[in-house]
Amino acid sequence: MTANSELRSRQWFGATGRTGMAHRSWMRSQGFTPEVFDGRPVIGIATTWSELAPCNVHLHRVAESVKRGVWQAGGFPLEFPAMALGETLLRPTAMLYRNLLAMEAEELMRANPLDGVVLLSGCDKTTPGLLMAAASVDLPAVMVTGGPMLNGKYQGTDVGSGTAVWRFEEDLVAGRMTQEECAFAESCMSRSNGHCMTMGTASTMASMAEALGMQLPYSATWPAVDARRYETAQRAGQVVVDLVRQDLRPSAIMTRAAFENAVRVNAAIGGSTNAVVHLLAIAGRLGVPLSLDDFDVLARDVPTLVNLQPSGQYLMEDFCYAGGLPAVIRELAEAGLLNSDAITVTGSGIGANVAAAECWNREVIKTVADPFQPAGTGTAVLRGNLAPGGAVIKQSASSAHLLKHRGRALVFDSPADYYAVSNDPELDVDEDTVLVIRYCGPVGYPGMPEVSNVALPRKLLLRGVRDIVRICDGRMSGTAYGTVVLHVAPEAAAGGPLALVRTGDWITLDVPARTLTLEVADEELADRRARWQPPAPHASRGWTRLYTEHVLQADAGADLDFLVGASGHEVPRESH
Ligand code: FES
Repeated sequence: MTANSELRSRQWFGATGRTGMAHRSWMRSQGFTPEVFDGRPVIGIATTWSELAPCNVHLHRVAESVKRGVWQAGGFPLEFPAMALGETLLRPTAMLYRNLLAMEAEELMRANPLDGVVLLSGCDKTTPGLLMAAASVDLPAVMVTGGPMLNGKYQGTDVGSGTAVWRFEEDLVAGRMTQEECAFAESCMSRSNGHCMTMGTASTMASMAEALGMQLPYSATWPAVDARRYETAQRAGQVVVDLVRQDLRPSAIMTRAAFENAVRVNAAIGGSTNAVVHLLAIAGRLGVPLSLDDFDVLARDVPTLVNLQPSGQYLMEDFCYAGGLPAVIRELAEAGLLNSDAITVTGSGIGANVAAAECWNREVIKTVADPFQPAGTGTAVLRGNLAPGGAVIKQSASSAHLLKHRGRALVFDSPADYYAVSNDPELDVDEDTVLVIRYCGPVGYPGMPEVSNVALPRKLLLRGVRDIVRICDGRMSGTAYGTVVLHVAPEAAAGGPLALVRTGDWITLDVPARTLTLEVADEELADRRARWQPPAPHASRGWTRLYTEHVLQADAGADLDFLVGASGHEVPRESH
């Protein structure tokens, strides 16, 4: 156990004279009794609660449960707000602000008298943002994600948030659904607190936090409204006090072994491609070697076990009742696909945490011997003259017949340019077309939004075509599906070869060979490059300028170049 004198909070609350008085007196304006300054661990609870981030709106109540646990364990809890990023509302994309949340939370954790932190997240970017912050400060930390919504219910069937939106839109365009039915479906899809209940980015990142060992077993899957979510939050409050006493920090938990586990678990759950960018960014904060190619190599022998939308049929509520993430992790451990000794916030190895985990529904959680999808069908990393820095494709959300495909490019410089003509019956497009949407990367949009899976041209939808190959330097929602090549690096706005493609060029996608090829001669590409002009900057001031001047490409996690790495938690200078 760390001696009280070693707790960093003692530098504030244990100080004598004017300085100590200032630190304590103003805190007492909240009505705390003096015992809170007796040397007990001070635990910050970083909450991304906001009515503008509906997926996180209940985190205020989750924080109350965390506080109970902290008090029980002899700590002193203090809740503080961190930037809430609502995926559905923020323009131009919540991803533009992930690094800002990470920077804000990092500075708040370091600048305040905290010995440990509990990280409350939910909506897509809040989980990686807080993990990046915790990694850079490296104070003992436990994450509690807010949990998924209850299953959506519409006309007697389950509907998954996000995934259903794409289908409803296609049905509306194709005349299979009326505007009134769509309006009713809105409320049926989102009917409780919580984040998206498909295996979208929020559920994926909650699972990644658990697979990394940063949140307690089952935390990723309890529904937001389930009493066990609040019980787990209370337990997390107890656990973080223990972590402070043991001095067990994120850098000792999120090791290379833990990231390997996360990459494999992501493959097993059919997780979002966004996990690639976020895990690379978190690893970058810790100095853990993790490359884009690891996501392909490590996952090649991992089958998809979880039958969840958008790749499968079920939703997070079903996943929870089937046994949750521990049942999946146990299955991987027994197949030799897990670093079982990787330490977690429980103080035990991840293998020990799940040793008794049971599966109650093999329709939802399959086995390695009889998987939902065979090994090697997860996220693939592509390279070639169109993506020298790499690109990714989620095979399980793609159409099998398009994974080897050659077609002529139809190129648009923005999603808006495409949507301006996508309903035109004269649009020169067919089922073999390769739709290129560019200038959607970290610099180009800016913020690398989830716009890559543009809806199919109306002409094709009316003919019953459900998928064509799309290529983009942006991202795709984890709830989405389609044969979409994502995260092309370098992006067009950074002068990547994607900027040089012209309508009519031949492009070959060969996922089994992991290649993406623009069939244009090098001399012709050099000629096009000589005449290429970079786009004008998006902003002359503020965050957007800072972001676009410093953001790294997708294959490096799209963090800011000066945020990579850690600064630790020391702040030697007094404020008064
Ligand atoms: Fe918040 Fe999907 S919109 S998790």
